[in-house]
Amino acid sequence: PFQLAVFDLDGVLADSARLHFVAWKAIADELGIPFGERANEALKGVDRMGSLRAILAIGGVNLPPDEMERLATRKNVAYLDVVETMGPQDLLPGARRLLDAVRARGMPATLASASRNAPRVLERLGIADVFAHVADPARLAPKPAPDLFLDGARFLGIDPQACVGFEDAGAGVVAIKAARMRAIGIGAATDLPGADQVYPTTDAIDIDRAFG
Ligand code: G6P
Ligand code: MG
Repeated sequence: PFQLAVFDLDGVLADSARLHFVAWKAIADELGIPFGERANEALKGVDRMGSLRAILAIGGVNLPPDEMERLATRKNVAYLDVVETMGPQDLLPGARRLLDAVRARGMPATLASASRNAPRVLERLGIADVFAHVADPARLAPKPAPDLFLDGARFLGIDPQACVGFEDAGAGVVAIKAARMRAIGIGAATDLPGADQVYPTTDAIDIDRAFG
């Protein structure tokens, strides 16, 4: 039986994957780099600097490190402005139902987001108290490495094979499988190869099957 649910945040519980995209798109537009929803798919789950590097690579643009820092900071300021307007209404449909089901099963939940803003987003959404542990992306290897997912399991002393991970990012599904957990993918199956189960949205998750 599964003992722990490990969640990604942006695009799984919070309607914030779009907000990251919009903030990056403004930077890409400024640089004259073509950047749309398709290209954004590869950025999901990727850390802040990695995301900027990927956008610059699309445009074949090279920038000095201090200029990259400046752009990444500007993107984050724009993103944080939106975060401060967030509330429980920004939970994705089905997120509450999923978290309630986890609690009803007596399972703890931990967070494996690559976002350094995750603690603030959890507070704004009103779900900070749901998580027994929040992995710190500043101190752990980024996805697709398994570290962010393994951190909560280690903290609670739970065998990774008794954990179920939830992800909307291709890199995240790879991370979950590298951690030897069951991977539930949220999105299009073609974007999430390797997932054990895929659902188009969080709302569509068959909870008995996900934990069965
Ligand atoms: C999540 C999102 C990414 C984002 C990353 C870093 O993984 O899916 O789009 O780039 O977190 O977020 P941060 O809030 O630290 O810039
Ligand atoms: Mg995500």
